[in-house]
Amino acid sequence: MDEFNKLSQIKTYTKSKLGTDKTGHSYDHIKRVVTMAEKILESEPADKLITLTAAYLHDTIDDKLVSDPKSALAELQEFLASLEFTSAQIEEISFIITHMSFAHSLQDDNFQLPLSGQIVQDADWLDAIGAIGITRAIYYGGHHVEKIYNPALAPRTNMTREEYRNLDDETIINHFYEKLLKLKDMLNTPTANKIAEHRQQVMLDFLTEFKNEWNSLA
Ligand code: ADP
Ligand code: NI
Repeated sequence: MDEFNKLSQIKTYTKSKLGTDKTGHSYDHIKRVVTMAEKILESEPADKLITLTAAYLHDTIDDKLVSDPKSALAELQEFLASLEFTSAQIEEISFIITHMSFAHSLQDDNFQLPLSGQIVQDADWLDAIGAIGITRAIYYGGHHVEKIYNPALAPRTNMTREEYRNLDDETIINHFYEKLLKLKDMLNTPTANKIAEHRQQVMLDFLTEFKNEWNSLA
C-alpha cells in the first residue's frame, strides 16, 4: 500500500473517532496540526509518513477524549498493522502520541521524542496559542463550565497531571498562565519558534486588554 493510500485511510479513521468532538479537538484542529507539521517538515529531515500519521492520530487516544485510552491504543495499533505499517513504525507512532502532550510533560520529563514526534508536538502546541489558541481555551473552558476569571485565584504552579486535569478552581484566564504562555519556550524546532513569537504577543495583548476592561481601565 503506498503512502498516499495509507494517509487517506488514516484520515478517515481520525474523522470517525473525533468527528463529533465538542471540546476544541474536532477534525479542524487535526487538519491544522497536519498542515503545520507539513510546513515544519520542509526544514527538518524527519520521516514524513511517521510524522503525518502521528499528526493525524495524536488525539485519538487522549484520556480526556476517549473513556478507555488503553483499548483505544490497542485498536489503533491493529488498524495500523492492517495498513501494513511495520511493528517498529507502530511502536514509534505509539510512543509519540502517548508522550507528546503537555499533560504528559507534567508527569514525566525523562524521555526524548524522536524528531518526527517533536514536529507533531510543535504543530499541536502552535494550535494551542495565538488567536486560535485563545478561542480554543474559551471553548474548552465553556464546555467544562470553568469560570472566566477570578483575580483572587492565583494561577497554579508546579502542577501534577492530576491537578492539571482538575478543573474545580480553574479559570479560563489562569489557563494562559498555567500552560499557554509557557508553550513558546517548550517548542522544539526553529520554524515553530519563529511562528510562536507573534502568537505569543497576540495572547499577551489579549490578556492586557482583558484585564484593563475587567478593572474598568479601558
Ligand atoms: P495536551 O493534549 O497538550 O495536554 P490539552 O489536552 O490540555 O493539551 O489541551 C488541548 C486544548 O484544550 C488546548 O487548546 C488547551 O488550551 C485547551 N485546554 C486544556 N485545558 C484547559 C483548561 N483548563 N482551560 C481552558 N482550556 C484548556
Ligand atoms: Ni491536539
